[in-house]
Amino acid sequence: MISKKMLTAINEQIKNELYSAYLYLSMAAWAVDNDFEGMANWFRVQQQEETFHAMKFYDYIVEQGGRVKLLQIDEPPHDFKSPVKVFEDTLAHEKKVTAMIHALMNQAIAEKDHATQILLQWYVSEQVEEEASATQILKRIRLAGDNPGALFMLDQQLGQRTFTPPASAEA
Ligand SMILES: [Fe+2]
Ligand SMILES: [Fe+2]
Repeated sequence: MISKKMLTAINEQIKNELYSAYLYLSMAAWAVDNDFEGMANWFRVQQQEETFHAMKFYDYIVEQGGRVKLLQIDEPPHDFKSPVKVFEDTLAHEKKVTAMIHALMNQAIAEKDHATQILLQWYVSEQVEEEASATQILKRIRLAGDNPGALFMLDQQLGQRTFTPPASAEA
């Protein structure tokens, strides 16, 4: 069983993960509206990943005999101005989420809650990947600059992304 304080914090994080899903879905809508169809695909897959993150916490609460409480999700921004800006916002958002995961980990350590620490280890690694992929795409978009051919090629690459549930899903 997890503490009441931990339960509250994880329910809060379910909301934060669902907000991430909402934010990326809004970015996908912006991308398709600006004819970046590959980018729209990338953000739709990103939305699926975030929903997966939320559900992993959800399942953990259920497993621990706790009660999942769904909180209100804020409205995400709708305008992102440019491909560079949309990935700058993505990276900034992921850095915020990394800080949230680290705060949860600090709480689990303080409470000597070993089970939640093991769960959170997965999210700590996941955030390293999330920041790395946003950083890599941002670099490529900056390199492409205003070159339509280069941007088109990059968009094609982003269109290749597919969602595969992580292997550790059952862990
Ligand atoms: Fe996430
Ligand atoms: Fe994320």
